[in-house]
This record gives sequence, structure tokens and C-alpha cells, in this order.
Amino acid sequence: MEIIFNPVRPEDTDVVAFAVTKANFADYNFPVDHPDQLRETAKLANFEGGAGQSFLLIAPVDGRMVRIILVGLGDKPTDQQKAGGEIISKVQTSGAKNIAIHAEHLEGTIAAEIAYGALLRSWRMDKYFTTKPKSELPTVTQIHIIGAPAAANDVWPRYAAVAQGVELTKELVTEPANIIYPESFVERCRHLTELGIEITVLDEAEMTKLGMGALLGVGQGSRKQSRMLAMKWDGTGGKQQRPLCLVGKGVTFDTGGISIKPAAGMEDMKWDMGGAGAVAGTMKALAGRKANAYVVGICGLVENMPDGNAQRPGDVVTSMAGQTIEVINTDAEGRLVLCDALHWAQETYNPEYMVDLATLTGAIIISLANEYAGMFSNSDELADKLNAAAKASGDPVWRMPIGAVYDKMINSDIADMKNVGPRGGGSITAAQFLHRFIKDGVKWAHLDIAGTVWTDKPGATWNKGASGFGVKLLDRLVADNFEG
Ligand code: BES
Ligand code: MN
Ligand code: ZN
Repeated sequence: MEIIFNPVRPEDTDVVAFAVTKANFADYNFPVDHPDQLRETAKLANFEGGAGQSFLLIAPVDGRMVRIILVGLGDKPTDQQKAGGEIISKVQTSGAKNIAIHAEHLEGTIAAEIAYGALLRSWRMDKYFTTKPKSELPTVTQIHIIGAPAAANDVWPRYAAVAQGVELTKELVTEPANIIYPESFVERCRHLTELGIEITVLDEAEMTKLGMGALLGVGQGSRKQSRMLAMKWDGTGGKQQRPLCLVGKGVTFDTGGISIKPAAGMEDMKWDMGGAGAVAGTMKALAGRKANAYVVGICGLVENMPDGNAQRPGDVVTSMAGQTIEVINTDAEGRLVLCDALHWAQETYNPEYMVDLATLTGAIIISLANEYAGMFSNSDELADKLNAAAKASGDPVWRMPIGAVYDKMINSDIADMKNVGPRGGGSITAAQFLHRFIKDGVKWAHLDIAGTVWTDKPGATWNKGASGFGVKLLDRLVADNFEG
């Protein structure tokens, strides 16, 4: 999808869109052939210009029949993005090619928010369809933003960079597990070097040397080799000493291993790498907009399979940190991958702040449904920053507790800890497990995104399927707190 800022509406436009408010709808001067009829028709359809409202009709503009769309604008940027998303979703497969969104009346950066929302909402993956009728496939290729103020035009490259990050995340999350596995995940991220990102990859031999017994134990039942991927972006030119580390769970498929999952719904576990996907997308966004910050993205990449060589319930593994773990349930694999990734991140990059993202527990969906990611943190300061970034970005998080009472629930009779706790508080004991690998003084937050990575219905800035959760949140966290 191409976004083009244009002073005037191109002649071949086949969709003309207007973003209006409750306040200006009554006397908005629509540049269409019959502006008053348009207004009256919209009113009859209960359109008043309120946030979230929209209206479509076919009527003449400059003597040609075109689709006309009205959307209601809210005050918040996230509402404005939603309005942009609404425009594209109404006509994406309609046969129309070019959309013109009139922006002459839109102040500041509102037009950029609308374009951003439309661009994000337009992403879908159609490449595996070979027989789908053309009428069900996207036809829109260009969105023209007409007459926007310079402010919107000026900030656009920044928005476009973040959108490209979100797109990478959606792509990685949507691809099936026969296509995206640890090695191919790394290859899909290689192009980030073109943006100035430095990539480091550890293979199994190197991870064995480093003693990553927890991560390697998860991958040992798979034919696919495990990988650790690090993506370093330093936009400060070496000025910032300690980076922000972003660490993602990248289980490219989670069968549960020997503690195998039921068949129904197991296909969903192709997106058990959503944390790693969000980290890769965020790095793309940050480098794409040349963020003035030092950030390292780390992805622990494994496939969790049952096999003659797979680890068994009851096995004891030794993590890189030296702490031993009794693997009670091979399906609680994410924490085993993350504990080595978190430890390696701290040893290698000495971060001041660290945020991990993981589709870690089904229990977080029981707690929060699909509305918020669960946030766990040892730092009120970092938690507050993430809360603020969540509100501003539209990737919502809700803080959950951690503490000593939960920590003791994962003590083991044979090793330093076990990888599952009792039935209650499953998301919290998972977070407690990770907490045991955080060094003193490191400000850390864990986001359990099991409920927010994948959706069964379209949302403001995503089609159904991959939501791209995390990229807008982390980009915002960096923009508001880590840039000089
Ligand atoms: N990847 C799953 C968590 C998950 C469940 C993500 C549903 C998305 C949707 C994770 O590896 C897992 O299997 N967790 C177990 C932990 C349990 C064995 C303690 C779970 O949540 O059931
Ligand atoms: Mn699992
Ligand atoms: Zn998993």
C-alpha cells in the first residue's frame, strides 16, 4: 500500500473519504457534486460524525460515480487511527484502486494518524491463496492524503517506519510453522542490517558452550535447530552506556512436547513466537525511524516437539545462569527458553532496563481475556512508563502482582525450581520463574501477550489474525523515555 501526500485530489480517484467531527459535520463543505444530499443521506443513516461512526454511499463527484466514505473522528490519536482503518476496511476488496482522504480541515498531525491507521489496517496475507476469486482479494493500491497541513506530512516518515515494523511482526506471526522456524525466522530478519542493525546469531554449538541447557532442552525434540538472535540498534553513536533490552519468546511451534497439547486448536501454536515477532518488528521500527536510543532485541528461537530425543517430564536441566530446573511439564517451555535468553542478554549487553514479551500462559487469557497483555514488573518506574505508553499507543497492558508468596510456589524437591506451580495464579508463577533470572538492579518487565497476539475479529488497526501487538507499545516506550 502506497501513502501519497497530495495537494489536490487525483482525477482517477475512485473512493473519496472525509473525516468529520460531531462539531463540524453540520457545516462541512464537502467537495462533491451534491453536498447537501450527502449530508442528509448520512443523517438518515444515523451518522452524526461521532468517533467510531462511518457511512458509505455511491454518488457523483466531478460527474463520476465514486464511493464516498464519511468517518467520525475522535480526539485521541488512537481514535483517529481507527477512523483510517475503517476507511480501508470498507473498500479494500471493492474493486476500487485509489482512495483520496480529504485532509484540508485536519489540524496538526491528525491526517498522519488517519493514514497510519489505514496503512496498518490494510495488511493481510493472501500469498497462499491460489483459487480465491479476484473479487475477494484486495484492489486498493494507493491512498492519497489530500491537502494535509505540513505538520502531518513532516511526521509521516516516522509513522511509516513504525508501520513497517508492525508489518514485519504480523508477517512473522502469520506465517505457518513449516515456513517460519528458528533458522528461517533469523533469515526473515536479515534485511534489518540494511537499516543499520547489527545482527548476532548463536547456533546450537555456541549455546551448548555457553551452557544454555534450559533453552536447548526445549529444542532437543525438534528436527529444527534452535537459535538465539540478537539485533542491536545504537542510534546514540555510543553515548548511551547501558541499553534497553527487549527479549522475545520465539517458540516457532509449540506442540507441548511430551506433555502434548490436545489436537483442537493446536494450529494456533504457530504464533507462539509472537513475542519474538514483536521484538523484531520493534527493532525494524526503531531503526527505520533512526531512533536516538540504544536498544537490543533478543529472540530465543526453538520448536517444541515430541520425539525420541525430546526432554521428559521430570528431567532436570541446568540453565546458563547455573540454576537448575525440574521440568514438570514440557508444555511450560516458554519460561525455559526465556530464562537463558534473559540471562544471556544481561551478561552480554548489561542492560539498565529489560522488557520481555511472551505468549507465555493460557492463564493470562483466563485473567484478562483478549483485552490486555498482563504486565509483571520489579520496577514501579518501568511499569508506569509502560502503562503510559500502552495508553498512548493503543496496545493495552494491565499490571499483575509478583512477590515472595508466589515465588515459593515454584520450589522443587530435587532442583532449584520447577517449571510449573500449582493450578492457581499460573501467569504469576510463570513471571516469578523469569524473575529468578533477573539480576539485582536491572529494571525488568514481563508482558504476557498470549491473549493479544492473535484475534478472531478485526480491530482498529489490524485485520483478524495477527494484531502486531507490542510494536506500537515499545516504540512509544522508547520515544517517550529513551531518546535524548
Ligand atoms: N504457548 C503456551 C501458552 C499459550 C496458550 C499461548 C494459549 C497462547 C494461547 C505455553 O507454552 C503453554 O503451553 N503454557 C501452559 C503452561 C502450563 C503447562 C503450566 C499453559 O498455559 O497451559
Ligand atoms: Mn507450551
Ligand atoms: Zn508456548
